[in-house]
Amino acid sequence: GCSYPVEGFWKHSYPISVNTATSLSHSTPINAVLLKEALESKESDLVFPSEDFSSQALVPSRQKYLEMYKKSIEDPAGFWSSIASQFYWKEKWGKQVFSENIDVSKGDVKIEWFKGGITNICYNCLDRNVEAGNGGKIAIYWEGNEPNIDGSLTYSELLQKVCQLANYLKDAGVKKGDAVVIYLPMLMELPIAMLACARIGAIHSVVFAGFSADSLVQRIMDCKPKVVITCNAVKRGPKVLHLKDIVDAAISQSAKNGISIDVCLTYENQSAMTRGDTKWHQGRDIWWQDVVPKYPMTCEVEWVDAEDPLFFLYTSGSTGKPKGVLHTTGGYMVYTATTFKHAFDYKPSDVYWCTADCGWITGHSYITYGPMLNGATVVVFEGVPTYPDAGRCWDIVDKYKVTLFYTAPTLIRSLMRVGDEYVTRYSRKSLRVLGSVGEPINPSAWRWFFNVVGDSRCPISDTWWQTETGGFMITPLPGGWPQKPGSATFPFFGVQPAIVDEKGAELQGECSGYLCLKHSWPGVFRTLYGDHERYETTYFKPFPGYYFSGDGCRRDKDGYYWLTGRVDDVINVSGHRIGTAEVESALISHSQCSEAAVVGVEHEVKGQGIYAFVTLADGVPYSEELRKSLILTVRKQVLPAENAASRRRL
Ligand code: PRX
Repeated sequence: GCSYPVEGFWKHSYPISVNTATSLSHSTPINAVLLKEALESKESDLVFPSEDFSSQALVPSRQKYLEMYKKSIEDPAGFWSSIASQFYWKEKWGKQVFSENIDVSKGDVKIEWFKGGITNICYNCLDRNVEAGNGGKIAIYWEGNEPNIDGSLTYSELLQKVCQLANYLKDAGVKKGDAVVIYLPMLMELPIAMLACARIGAIHSVVFAGFSADSLVQRIMDCKPKVVITCNAVKRGPKVLHLKDIVDAAISQSAKNGISIDVCLTYENQSAMTRGDTKWHQGRDIWWQDVVPKYPMTCEVEWVDAEDPLFFLYTSGSTGKPKGVLHTTGGYMVYTATTFKHAFDYKPSDVYWCTADCGWITGHSYITYGPMLNGATVVVFEGVPTYPDAGRCWDIVDKYKVTLFYTAPTLIRSLMRVGDEYVTRYSRKSLRVLGSVGEPINPSAWRWFFNVVGDSRCPISDTWWQTETGGFMITPLPGGWPQKPGSATFPFFGVQPAIVDEKGAELQGECSGYLCLKHSWPGVFRTLYGDHERYETTYFKPFPGYYFSGDGCRRDKDGYYWLTGRVDDVINVSGHRIGTAEVESALISHSQCSEAAVVGVEHEVKGQGIYAFVTLADGVPYSEELRKSLILTVRKQVLPAENAASRRRL
């Protein structure tokens, strides 16, 4: 009956109460590749971290992990408050470190961490590091789409830029609690904009730059921002995306629906497009470069409560409308910083590169906040990993001497296909730890990543988590224990996974079922913006007493966790969550389609692909042209604009 790993857990089996619940009500087929590989790979196939690595690691052994894990479960208040004390709080939180009710049968779901604590996450990311004497350290290495275009900012410079924008936003009327929509590609200005909002207590809503105008309208309508921040265009690989045109369309559509935007702050991204070519809306549009640099380089911090909102981020659910996941300040700060530090075994000398985009949770928690709270040097990459060729990632790794490299299985699989030469051509000697996120990594992709990219030297942190969880939930601590290719291994500190059956009964030992979590943790989301009822219905009602993740999971005899994919009506394409209902409603909006049913199908590179069954309107013949037109309709309404889907976490 032990719900967390015990000493010697991979040597001795649990007293097994095997559950044979293999018949979960999957609405999407189980990925056969994954299943086959998982069944073939021997669970006893262990990959040990080297002696050298473990001896220098933050968590050097399983004993140390178990000790810390036990403390985090037995005394969460003590465990997390001693970590939280390492940050700057203008005022300490109240007597209660946290309070929670996640059991719907006992009333409304409510979670609070460090309530009454007064802090600011931007201050903790920047000022605190500068004041500690690290102002001269590189905060961001920026690598442009073209290999010869780059830049960098030290922590002091980043702080100055953030302050200038924060001052501008205040002048534009943005106050504490106001929303700001950010629609920017991976320029340095994207993390700058996020941090500037946080500095003045504004709530950012980053929309992945490439999402269609329709998606942007939806997000603007939901949070009614004072200001929209964008840029004129971006080059991704050889293609130019005209972002400003998408924003223009979205703003005029929003105005028709009664929400008008007074200010559209536009960064001139000269390498993609000049001012002269940019369509302009006098009075509303303002060039960033014309106004922001004129503001003072210092800006007072707006101190906020730990439970004040930090950001909204939208994610697909199993029904039509995307969900506005809301994260608050204090718990998120403590959780992202701690998970980053441990899952990557972070050292101040590290150079960290995560190939995600800040438009997704990975870019929020593990490009901007988690790393910067640790004072880390972060690579921000504008382009695509296969441009100019499939060796670009390793070129960047060598150029900046990247030590921690975090990416998605879909990229690993696509690079695997083009051959090892693109990798082995580069040194990659700087690499220390590799990371994977977004979908289950199949053992053969794991092994290629480990053997070819990491020269069989670098542990892999396969991090399982979600937009909703704020940070890592199940993840290796790279120096702490042997890994099994394809398993995310064990829960992070303070995390209590529970695998339940269809009736919500918790299973013990070796089993498979629905992955839930018991109790709250500091980084968990607090609500769905404007729809607390949907929050409770989606996550807390399916299995009362638990948070339900929507994922299937297996625990093996050694206690290792193996994620098996979504068990709700969500398809995971290249690590990109897409609701089947969203695709279906897009299809039936097409004049020649009367009915649609969408399922996920296995895809060698993307993990899953979308398969749609359609009934056409009376008398309409099926043709290749019609097929293309249906796909275009879906792309326009649901998916990011051209090329962008593949940029998800790549
Ligand atoms: O199905 C799981 C999958 O991605 C989902 C969360 O997607 P999203 O909120 O967009 O956040 C992605 C970045 C954290 C999960 O429900 N997933 C994510 N990481 C893994 C994973 N599946 C297996 N292994 C992972 N490491």
